[in-house]
Amino acid sequence: SILNATNIVIFGATGDLAKRKLFPAFYNLFIDGRMPANFNIIALGRSDHDHDYFKNYIKTNLEAFSRKNITSDEWQAFQPHIFYLQHQLDDEDSYRKLNEKLQEFDTDFGMRGNRLFYLSIGPNFVSTISNHIKNTSLASEADKDRIVIEKPFGYNKQTAVELNQLLSQTFEEKQIYRIDHYLGKETVQNILAFRFGNSIFEPLWNNRHIESVQITVAEEVGVETRGGFYEQTGALRDMVQNHLLQILCMVAMEAPASLESDEIRDRKVDVLKAIRRIPATRVDHYAVRGQYGEGIINGEKQKAYRQEEGIAPDSNTETFVAVKFYLDNERWQNVPFYVRTGKKMKEKHSYITVQFRPLPHSTFSDSSSLLSANRLIINIQPSMDIRLQFMTKKQGLSMLLKPVEMVFDYFACKEDTPEAYETLLLDAIIGDLTLFMRSDQVEEAWDVVTTIQEDWENKKASFPNYKAGSWGPEESFTLVERQGHGWV
Ligand code: BG6
Repeated sequence: SILNATNIVIFGATGDLAKRKLFPAFYNLFIDGRMPANFNIIALGRSDHDHDYFKNYIKTNLEAFSRKNITSDEWQAFQPHIFYLQHQLDDEDSYRKLNEKLQEFDTDFGMRGNRLFYLSIGPNFVSTISNHIKNTSLASEADKDRIVIEKPFGYNKQTAVELNQLLSQTFEEKQIYRIDHYLGKETVQNILAFRFGNSIFEPLWNNRHIESVQITVAEEVGVETRGGFYEQTGALRDMVQNHLLQILCMVAMEAPASLESDEIRDRKVDVLKAIRRIPATRVDHYAVRGQYGEGIINGEKQKAYRQEEGIAPDSNTETFVAVKFYLDNERWQNVPFYVRTGKKMKEKHSYITVQFRPLPHSTFSDSSSLLSANRLIINIQPSMDIRLQFMTKKQGLSMLLKPVEMVFDYFACKEDTPEAYETLLLDAIIGDLTLFMRSDQVEEAWDVVTTIQEDWENKKASFPNYKAGSWGPEESFTLVERQGHGWV
């Protein structure tokens, strides 16, 4: 491996994200020979665990969450790279000790290694950690040291601006890797390849040929064990401000001049700027919120959101959002972009639908030709495929039409698909910022949802308004039907 020696420091290494996503990602990268030849993972936690205890804990979790099987040889090769260090987030001494440890590792490397600080902790600790890193000069080399930050990135536009200012006292922008894990998903990255690696789609990719775009991210899970966090967050902040708007950017952006990270990020910011801000007085017209009540999923009875642990019995937090956005630019004028996301939906399914305009005139008298408007569906998960719907002749003696699909299916390919976190962690190790959020991207995305946030905070909703196991509240359907569209 030609990558620089790297010390990876995980804050919150005993937490949920580390065990489900981070360690499995590092392990899989290691097995694939993608990690630097010299690297350490320094796991920080509050408790006084010994190394063996911690390594066993990691091994058990790898067995549960890793994409690849854990063989004993591979585990034996991987485990010497893990070190557990007891650490108090608000105690500067802990950071000095960490620095000493990193210097020891550098001595072993025979060089000052790169440092990757991964903040797998709640948003309240970001400033504390960033300040201590600054005071103890832990990240003193701008070309080698990086910080990775998880969402939520702020609570609204103003707090995001403040957080960016605070981080900028310790880090240069090029050192800051704000994660939106949807950008690491293979199927989401493929949108760029599909749009700009082909000559036949881009000429149609505009308001002359596309009637509407839909983006759905439906989850079967509820709030699980994150009640306390989710109560303060809700689906607009948790999903729309980041994941859904990022997907929208991929679908709507202009062609970048190169694959240079700032070039791509500039084009995405252009989209966010072009999204028409919803007037404060018109939020009800463009946005729908929902919260699940009791219901049934896969034959099993589900609790209502308000009955879940850590949730107020009269909670006003939304678990479902649907919004209609317009973009004020030449390409997309008057094309509605419908986005929706919800928890406890009928099924887990994330996908994008690009609905092309119907024929100006149909040559075929057959009424099935009315169905003929072409449609492109990009399935993000769990199915990962691209489907193009078009009309063909129905076999037989008369000239009748039927819709068919042309499908590209990832699972039919031999190559296995990396997890989003593998892609993103490797990029952070290499130093490629393309798939990470720049400060202005985050701030613009907050700006897009600000009026919705404020309206919903100030008004009580009549919740619950959809059944667990459904596709969300009635109003979500009205939102698209008003214009003669339907969720597909
Ligand atoms: C996270 C949200 O960012 O994304 C969660 O905080 C959500 O609420 C999750 O469940 C969905 O991610 P994925 O990869 O399972 O679609």
